[in-house]
Amino acid sequence: MIEPTGTKDGQPYYEVDIREVQQTLHRDLPPTTVWGYDGQYPGPTIEARRGEPVYVRWKNKLPDEHLLPVDTTIHSDMVPYDSTGTRVVTHLHGGNVEHTSDGKPLAWFTRDFEETGPKFEKKDYYYVNDQPAATLWYHDHSLGITRLNVYAGLAGFYLLRSDREDELGLPEGEYEIPLVLQDRTFEEDGSLFYPTGPTDGGGSGPDPSIVPQFYGDTSVVNGKAWPRLTVEPRSYRLRLLNGSNSRFYSLKLVEYDEATGTTGEDGPALTLVGNDGGLLAQPRQVEDRLQLGSSARADVVVDFADYAGSTLLLHNDAPAEFRGSVGTDDGVEPLPEVLLVDVQNTSGGDDTSQVPNSLGRVPDIPVESADRNRHVTLATQTDENGRQLHLLGTGEEPLGNRLYDAATETPRKGTTEIWSIVNRTAMSHPVHLHLVHFQVLGHQSYGDFDPEADSIDPETLSPPKQGERGWNDVVTVDPGQVTHIIVHFGEYEGLFNDQTGWYMWHCHMLEHEDHDMMRPLRVLPDKD
Ligand code: C2O
Ligand code: CU
Repeated sequence: MIEPTGTKDGQPYYEVDIREVQQTLHRDLPPTTVWGYDGQYPGPTIEARRGEPVYVRWKNKLPDEHLLPVDTTIHSDMVPYDSTGTRVVTHLHGGNVEHTSDGKPLAWFTRDFEETGPKFEKKDYYYVNDQPAATLWYHDHSLGITRLNVYAGLAGFYLLRSDREDELGLPEGEYEIPLVLQDRTFEEDGSLFYPTGPTDGGGSGPDPSIVPQFYGDTSVVNGKAWPRLTVEPRSYRLRLLNGSNSRFYSLKLVEYDEATGTTGEDGPALTLVGNDGGLLAQPRQVEDRLQLGSSARADVVVDFADYAGSTLLLHNDAPAEFRGSVGTDDGVEPLPEVLLVDVQNTSGGDDTSQVPNSLGRVPDIPVESADRNRHVTLATQTDENGRQLHLLGTGEEPLGNRLYDAATETPRKGTTEIWSIVNRTAMSHPVHLHLVHFQVLGHQSYGDFDPEADSIDPETLSPPKQGERGWNDVVTVDPGQVTHIIVHFGEYEGLFNDQTGWYMWHCHMLEHEDHDMMRPLRVLPDKD
């Protein structure tokens, strides 16, 4: 939690210093040098209320030298790697914000705003908070080094609350716990390890070189390595966020025998009450496992009442790469043990929380209301150095555009679009749109997809998966699949909140986003 430092235009005003600090991530690990918002990793949780805008000034107080190996060939046409100190820019992920406060990659700035990127517009970001209560988060988004800045620690929660949500009676206070799931690899001296290049040698690439994906060998939750959580035998609301660079999670709670390190029966069910954009219309019990791609959120209620005195494990069985073509054991770097949960024998008091049958408002966006069907593609190519890169495209040749090729996704404000996202690569990608929340219409295999058809019949698709109902700002598109989403570009019109202009859409695997799986999303004003 962080308190405002004052007010600006009558609204709460936060100043958040971004600093390098030493932090102990586990008692058996020497202190780790990390980067933290307000000097903490993860950053402090910002609590906002619907209808109450806030201002935030993100202040860069980082040293000139990066903590991690920087590949200076990434966007070297746009980034003056030689002359600048460390660049940062903070994006509010899931925020329906004006574009000048979006924190886009070219709006970076160095220490004390000495140097600024070409899209830098202002120091004080304005978050209007005019959207349903939701689990948002903020993280670094600097061009070409997002993967490194986030890995170094630059991420935190932004919980947007509302009176309506408060009235539901979900577990609250100490019984509501945000959990950011990440993976890291540590050196013996406690420092963060991040590769200087691909382990297969990577051919003739630069040194250091970006890696195609990163998977750490250690689970870190809320900045604690090999984490454990103590709970009372009662209901909790857990706000899960996949804050890892590349890793997917596929989660359930199981009983765990610590002495032998073996897993047993299934533990308590996860009841999904919300996801990226806020509450679901109705709670849904997760059958089997909950899947989270990078940046996705799941708001779950878990009742530990029947598990007093036991130890549970939040177990992950998602391989890395996820649904990829690797398929062999050496390509799979699972991270099964995400979080140990010790359930105490007794509870502190009566549990009066509840999960009502009716939660948030999620009116269906009818497919007939779409003004346009857009075909977008995920494709694999090779860069100037012979390295694999993933690109986003329009379905036309070439099969993918680089980041700052002319904008091709240019919806008009006030219109509704269906995006058919075609994955022609060999692995799953979590695809994220800034500014908006969308609904998933369903999935189909590429062979069944007719790009010429001018409408989509949801009846012919496989329905949205668990966790894809409700309002999403990221969706996982599996290889060989087409995922269809429907999105309305809203009429938000507040004085300080014109939501047209330049945003981004991209794969949220941070190694992909940096190299070059990201494109502008330019929202044009409505017609008149
Ligand atoms: Cu969380 Cu553009 O990203
Ligand atoms: Cu990707």
